[in-house]
Amino acid sequence: MEQYEPKPPVPARDGVDPGAVPFVTLSGGARMPAVGLGTFGSDRYGAREIAQTVKGAIGAGYRHIDCAKVYGNEREIGAALAEVFASGEVRREELFITSKLWNDQHGPRDALVNCAETLRDLGLDYLDLYLVHWPFPNYHPPFCDGDTRNPDSRPFFIEEFMSVWRQMEKLVDMGLARAIGTSSMTIPKMEELWPLARVKPACNEMELHPHFQQPELRAYLWSKGVVPIGFSPIGSPSRPERDRTAEDTCELTDPKIMEIAEVHGAHPALICLKWGVQSGHAVIPFSVKRQQYIANLRCAAEDPLTAAEMAVMDSLDKNCRLIKGQVFLWPGAESWENLWDINGVIDRSGWLGAK
Ligand SMILES: NC(=O)c1ccc[n+]([C@@H]2O[C@H](COP(=O)([O-])OP(=O)(O)OC[C@H]3O[C@@H](n4cnc5c(N)ncnc54)[C@H](OP(=O)(O)O)[C@@H]3O)[C@@H](O)[C@H]2O)c1
Repeated sequence: MEQYEPKPPVPARDGVDPGAVPFVTLSGGARMPAVGLGTFGSDRYGAREIAQTVKGAIGAGYRHIDCAKVYGNEREIGAALAEVFASGEVRREELFITSKLWNDQHGPRDALVNCAETLRDLGLDYLDLYLVHWPFPNYHPPFCDGDTRNPDSRPFFIEEFMSVWRQMEKLVDMGLARAIGTSSMTIPKMEELWPLARVKPACNEMELHPHFQQPELRAYLWSKGVVPIGFSPIGSPSRPERDRTAEDTCELTDPKIMEIAEVHGAHPALICLKWGVQSGHAVIPFSVKRQQYIANLRCAAEDPLTAAEMAVMDSLDKNCRLIKGQVFLWPGAESWENLWDINGVIDRSGWLGAK
């Protein structure tokens, strides 16, 4: 495995004009800033620290925040948002706020109840985007080992997913979610959802970084008018040990990315983000370090990559999925690859349970 040695961040000027940050227009017409702040601290950063980061990031020009109930920090982020609104710094309608429904909440009323709880915790009366966090139901305890298997985990069945999606549609009808979407969907799963969805998914959040570009899935989504949102856009260099394998590659030590970074006088992380934004999708990098998170926003607003540099970046795809999802496997599944339908059909390998 390539080892990444963190370097001290390059000092950034303070603050970015939100108007200078590119945006992506969703099918319903909403404008989503192309750079959002990720809020998953994993086991490294606590809820208070991340909430303080949200406050600092909004002050520095961020207008897009990527939250989720399972990140365990929505209440603290809600308190931070309340302070920001009370200060008059920004109004609610200037922000684009996403949250997500966790995998153990796919029951008959769960999406409605969970969305209400998220809104209460965040102190909001609507979300700009509500996502089904993963397309299959399962549970695993926080910080569990990568090999942990839960006996109740199930593969994707469209009938079960539609019971969740109907609730998501209702949230749109009720005005509680302005748009709804999916996360980590594959083309075969989306093909089953598409004809049945009364409200079509506006976005699909998915792993996207230069070594994992998913070109076919991105092209498919764009053909349907679904906006890709790239998670782990820097290649999640500080993810926990349990999420690493010997085959994983690292953008931050990629000689071609380092070379382009040198030309721009920028950290390789910023070249990854520029590639994402200039490819047309949104990116949601995570950082609690002020110089880093400001640089992550600023890099989308200035000094773009040239067409030749973009072509080099496009050529660096290694199909290296980092967030493999192995803890979500159902009993009988052999490998994390079963989650990703790599043969072009919905993969339920090893599943012997009821439909
Ligand atoms: N939908 C989903 O299922 C899903 C899955 C995964 C993630 N997400 C979302 O995506 C967000 C981002 O994903 P991620 O945290 O896995 O990966 P990431 O954004 O690719 O990587 C984050 C790490 O990169 C480093 N970093 C950030 N900015 C940097 C800079 N300018 N220079 C150098 N290093 C920098 C930081 O490491 P240090 O802290 O060590 O400095 C940070 O912890 C999450 O917070 C979450 O909101 C969604």
